[in-house]
Amino acid sequence: MEYIENIDTKNKKVILRLDLNVTIKNGEIMDDTKIVKSIPTIKYLLNNGCNILIMSHLGKVKSLEDQMQNSLKPVKEVLSKLLEQEVVFVSNTRDPELKNILANNRLVLLENTRFEDYPGKLESGCDEELSKYWASLGEVFINDAFGTTHRRHASNYGISKYLPSAYGFLIKQELDGLDPIVNNINRPFAVIMGGAKVDDKIALIKTLVKECDYLLVGGGIANTFVKAEGKEIGNSLYSADYVEEVKELVSIYKEKINTPIDVVVNDNDQIKTINIEDITDSCTIYDIGPKTVEKYIEILKNSNTIFMNGTMGMYEDENYRAGTELLLRGLTDIKANKVAGGGDAVAAVKKLQYEDAFDFLSTGGGASLEYIADKEINCFKD
Ligand code: 3PG
Repeated sequence: MEYIENIDTKNKKVILRLDLNVTIKNGEIMDDTKIVKSIPTIKYLLNNGCNILIMSHLGKVKSLEDQMQNSLKPVKEVLSKLLEQEVVFVSNTRDPELKNILANNRLVLLENTRFEDYPGKLESGCDEELSKYWASLGEVFINDAFGTTHRRHASNYGISKYLPSAYGFLIKQELDGLDPIVNNINRPFAVIMGGAKVDDKIALIKTLVKECDYLLVGGGIANTFVKAEGKEIGNSLYSADYVEEVKELVSIYKEKINTPIDVVVNDNDQIKTINIEDITDSCTIYDIGPKTVEKYIEILKNSNTIFMNGTMGMYEDENYRAGTELLLRGLTDIKANKVAGGGDAVAAVKKLQYEDAFDFLSTGGGASLEYIADKEINCFKD
């Protein structure tokens, strides 16, 4: 694997793949961590006299409506501000003028690469012709999109087949930061897994449960686990298609897997904390309860390595924030190597001001989980 400093970029036209997949609400970027962490690689290339074509995905694009809602344009303003430099935005992912634009500008940001996913899934299907076309625009390819190192898409794996390629500084920082969790883990190793749905994460959960000593679940993910344990979850969100798989996991790994014992629910517009056994049809779970936090903290106190992905509840709403906040507060006093990974976990850690509780915050959600599970990243040609 080559790093940016080991490859000749002097005065070259560089295709730079970043992970600028940030949450944007009403045109405003909710957390700019991924953009800020991409700056050192951009600055290095600018200092090397390069003209840079920046590419990134944003969200998932499966319809015209998704295209309208997932433009990268708001990111251009933040990039310009951080770099104190003009960034030219190109809204057509195959603009016939792209080569000329790049020849005449130091910094160009291309529209969301996943616009090529509708119709036709060309970006995520790693379409050969699209990969070749994007590669033809530059002379060197730098991939610094740690968040998509688990994807083999046209804008990462595809381009790397046709250009001299290397990783940027963020990927290096991520691999170093995750190293204590991936290699030579100081056990016991606890994984805290939250977030909305099991669907995207089931394969990883299966691998991680083997790797870790404790798996603590929260958020919407926990609902599927509680359901799999044969308990009532009322109206709560869960992944019906995965209950059987989770049931099997829970039976094999019952010593490792921990599920909530109490939760915060909305019951006919009343918010209350109840034991899991007391859930009725009219309840919707939105957070873990204080007894669960206490139980999880006790387990975490016995751990030497802790990885957190996702949040324990809908922390954006003050009514359902306590589970995530109390857990973060508890983590502050625990002496272990602590890493949080993924957009939601990092956004919560920052919003609730618990950055100091962690040794490392990873920009990768699925990517960090896959790296921990597979112990390698596979977004470059073999
Ligand atoms: C992330 O936010 O985890 C990365 O940007 C990857 O996004 P994806 O899961 O949509 O590929």
